Amino acid sequence: MSRQFTVDRLSPVLSDIWDAERPWKLDTYRAHGGYAGLERALTMAPEDVIGEVKASGLRGRGGAGFPAGLKWSFLPAPDGGPRYLVVNADESEPGTCKDIPLMLANPHSLVEGVAITSYAMGGHHAFIYLRGETVHVYRRLMAAVREAREAGLVGKGMGPNRDFDLEITVHAGAGAYICGEETALLDSLEGLRGQPRLKPPFPAVAGLYARPTVLNNVESIASVPGIIANGVDWFTAMGTEKSAGHALFSVSGHVQNPGQFEAPLGITMRELIEMAGGVREGHRLKFWTPGGSSTPILTEAELDVPLDYESVGAAGSMLATRALMVFDDTTSVVRVISRWTDFYAHESCGKCTPCREGTYWMKQVLHRLEAGEGMQSDIDLLLDVAGNIAGRSFCALGDASAVPIQSGIKHFRSEFEAGTSTPAWELFPYEASAIF
Ligand code: NAI
Ligand code: SF4
Repeated sequence: MSRQFTVDRLSPVLSDIWDAERPWKLDTYRAHGGYAGLERALTMAPEDVIGEVKASGLRGRGGAGFPAGLKWSFLPAPDGGPRYLVVNADESEPGTCKDIPLMLANPHSLVEGVAITSYAMGGHHAFIYLRGETVHVYRRLMAAVREAREAGLVGKGMGPNRDFDLEITVHAGAGAYICGEETALLDSLEGLRGQPRLKPPFPAVAGLYARPTVLNNVESIASVPGIIANGVDWFTAMGTEKSAGHALFSVSGHVQNPGQFEAPLGITMRELIEMAGGVREGHRLKFWTPGGSSTPILTEAELDVPLDYESVGAAGSMLATRALMVFDDTTSVVRVISRWTDFYAHESCGKCTPCREGTYWMKQVLHRLEAGEGMQSDIDLLLDVAGNIAGRSFCALGDASAVPIQSGIKHFRSEFEAGTSTPAWELFPYEASAIF
């Protein structure tokens, strides 16, 4: 298997069959206990399934960490009309690369999770919204849904009483970062231009086609079968009190063996870097991100912080998507943040002024500093613009664009100051840097 499927054996759950022969096939998944969770769920009352997920403390793995069972329980009482499950598979956060390997290696864990969740919430039509560029993932998911349908695991007449129907639609978007924002995703799924909606109402109340909708990330939904099959105690035995369970940690960048590492929440970055073979030989860690480019950068001082929602928050950042990008001493902070800002400026949907205009201007200023042509006032200007975006934008993309700039200047101000006289490529030659 390719390197991205490297899996640590600490607590393989989602990744336990990734190294098996053709792990994406239904037979392989079933041979390893797959669909036992669905079988059990269908014998339970739907509210009991929600109760178990709530008791497990499973928190959304898409970034925000909102308790999944709680989110499901926000749905209003059934009124006879449709209600939907929508899986957010639009993984796009820079550095985030866990859902795509998960769907490629073990799509049935997602299909089973979709079936259990739909049953629990009383939904008969579920959608998996995928990045348009990932045609290979689309094909694999379609094949898994087809296999499950042909085997009678999803479709019409599910359960011991053959009274539950479920249709699953895999939908490929057109490749826009903003469509990972849950309400923009819903607009896109409805055939509209993907732009965030005003919240509230939250999707739980008025989501797809204005109907009650549960919207969860791929990894969150794929974690449900294990909880139902193995029980709440099994899940809560992993992780910490408030951040229970297992999770995928994507270690990328300047380490010897980048890859996916599945481990209980609360593992440290130091341990993960060790598992990844250490920082590139001859180099030292300079900084890292706990959850992709949208989370404040951290340094060597935070290597022993447990990677759970509370501890990373207390350390001044966010766990978010566990996209652990590692940067060594050959990296120009200004150049990295400039590339991330290019990304945010490009992906800004343009709906609100602070983000639409602010990301453009931050990009211009960063390009100057990167070229060594900045002005003394540029650092204050960057902080001023970032401060006027954060908390004043319509959705989280705006806030995210401000984060790297604010935390980069906090930790490495002198590198930004050097941008008033020396180009980043002279301070940090490209040749020395493997990934930029
Ligand atoms: P959020 O905190 O606003 O909401 C989290 C979830 O809880 C949403 O589904 C929301 O509908 C629900 N919720 C919150 N309060 C609720 C209430 N009172 N009633 C009903 N439902 C409620 O976070 P958001 O904006 O959905 O996600 C931001 C996160 O997404 C960031 O932390 C970032 O890490 C992550 N992200 C992930 C990406 C990826 O590629 N996986 C891309 C970009 C961002
Ligand atoms: Fe669009 Fe940016 Fe405003 Fe979000 S913050 S609505 S991405 S312009």
